[in-house]
Amino acid sequence: MSIKKKTPEELRSHRWYGVHDLRSFGHRSRTAQMGYGREEYAGKPVIAILNTWSEINPCHTHFKQRVEEVKRGIWQAGGFPVELPVQTLSEPFQKPTTMLYRNFLAMEVEETLRSYPADGVVLMGGCDKTTPALLMGAISMDLPAIFLPAGPMLNGNWNGRTLGSGSDTWKYWADLRAGKITEDDWRGVEGGIARSPGHCMTMGTASTMTSAAEALGFTLPGFASIPAADSRHAVFAAKTGMRIVDMVWEDLKPSDLLSAASIDNAVTTCLALSGSTNAIVHMIALARRAGIELTLERYDDLARRTPVLANIRPTGQYLMEDFYYAGGLRAMLKELGDLIDGSQKTVNGRTLAENIGDAEIFNDEVIRRRATPLMPDTGLAVLRGNLAPDGAVIKPGAAEPALHVHTGRAVVFRDYNDMAARIDDDALEIDETCVIVLQHAGPVGAPGMPEWGQLPIPKKLLERGVRDMVRISDARMSGTSYGACVLHVAPESFIGGPLALVRDGDLIELDVPQRKLNVLITDEELARRKAAWVAPAPRFTRGYGAMHQIHVTQADKGCDFDFLQRDGGKPDAKDASGGEPEIH
Ligand code: FES
Repeated sequence: MSIKKKTPEELRSHRWYGVHDLRSFGHRSRTAQMGYGREEYAGKPVIAILNTWSEINPCHTHFKQRVEEVKRGIWQAGGFPVELPVQTLSEPFQKPTTMLYRNFLAMEVEETLRSYPADGVVLMGGCDKTTPALLMGAISMDLPAIFLPAGPMLNGNWNGRTLGSGSDTWKYWADLRAGKITEDDWRGVEGGIARSPGHCMTMGTASTMTSAAEALGFTLPGFASIPAADSRHAVFAAKTGMRIVDMVWEDLKPSDLLSAASIDNAVTTCLALSGSTNAIVHMIALARRAGIELTLERYDDLARRTPVLANIRPTGQYLMEDFYYAGGLRAMLKELGDLIDGSQKTVNGRTLAENIGDAEIFNDEVIRRRATPLMPDTGLAVLRGNLAPDGAVIKPGAAEPALHVHTGRAVVFRDYNDMAARIDDDALEIDETCVIVLQHAGPVGAPGMPEWGQLPIPKKLLERGVRDMVRISDARMSGTSYGACVLHVAPESFIGGPLALVRDGDLIELDVPQRKLNVLITDEELARRKAAWVAPAPRFTRGYGAMHQIHVTQADKGCDFDFLQRDGGKPDAKDASGGEPEIH
């Protein structure tokens, strides 16, 4: 089937460069100021390259080079590349959490594209929140868009042992505190755990979300699994540059890729990878940008039917480099078979099924067969009850099975500082049957819903060999964490959700098979406590933080800003995302 191609006059950039008026004279003369002759750009698609590189983002150190490879591809395909720097969202350095700034980057992406003469865009990201932020902004702007995933870093290595980001940091920190390794050993781990450019190579948020981006059809097939340091990563960067130029001529936009089925494909992918629980929040936000309602119930339904196939840490044993050599994401998607809707379109113009047709599993210990999954269907569970009327989540596979059904006495901390001050106090009345509750750690309260959800086990219990307890909060948890941690409780405590009303000594009931989470007090008592609840003072009085606390939605709605969702937060609004005022 031949695709109708745009003419040069139909390009969005024509309004800046191609018309005969005073403003376009300015655009052309200023482009000449930058050293380009008319013949280099006239009538060509202008491709914005949104680059999240910076000197404080270790996961994107190769982007300075990769952007040149992207430009090479764009020139070769007859486009005009324009690199535009956007916020870097560096997971290891940004406080209190990059999540606070995800929506900031998403806004920056949308407004940068809207205000400059972009016909199409290459999105360069990978470190945790950069992927959802770039995609959210691009979906709202709905120009032809292709994602360049940073790629995982190489396997960590120290004294012959393989190290994984995050998971092994905590493991060896515990060993150091317990005197099992020396300070010299600890420095060795420090030097060997992050060996190359690229994002975390465990199945944290970065690997989960770049894989989700590929499953959604936003990357060239196979790209998300290629390690950042592999020469094939550079080859794919150039191919990405070439492809976006054709996507502009074909007018292949995010709205052509996204559907309820493609969102299901991405969620199924996250589940089969045993991906980060953070992906739930991001996938809901992405879907809502596209006007697709992804509910926690749908997530739970998909979790009940999806086996975990990727044997990657922290759930499994291996790392992303091993996953790539075992066949990568294409092979896993093919193995998922009828759980994936292969008819969905992707950025190369072909369907997902066409893209994975020739994929093979080369090591079925790393990428499991459906007949021998790592876990049958225990990747994720959505809980509800009087403690979480709008939902909460748990990763049962990461928790002690004995804790899946548990009732225990609540030990409540009113915020993170309170927990830090008292958790290791010998006088704290707590044992392994208790339920640890952390309040004020949600989207508004913390602020930004930090990854505090793997609440620490009190030292005195650790010393007795206790390794897991039921822990509940409205926070998120790093994808590299584990334990019986109930997360994303909604509505959050800071805005008066029931979690704010729990007191020391209340009994809390967790029942994963029944999907229940309750505080065992009467409705009347809950109502009495609610009536007596006093709202805490706002976290911010000015700036971005003030805007965030007013407009951020709860975890079950994706923590996007209400006015950035497709309906602008108003049920009766007409497609606010597509509105583009005339720019002269
Ligand atoms: Fe960038 Fe983990 S620190 S992905």
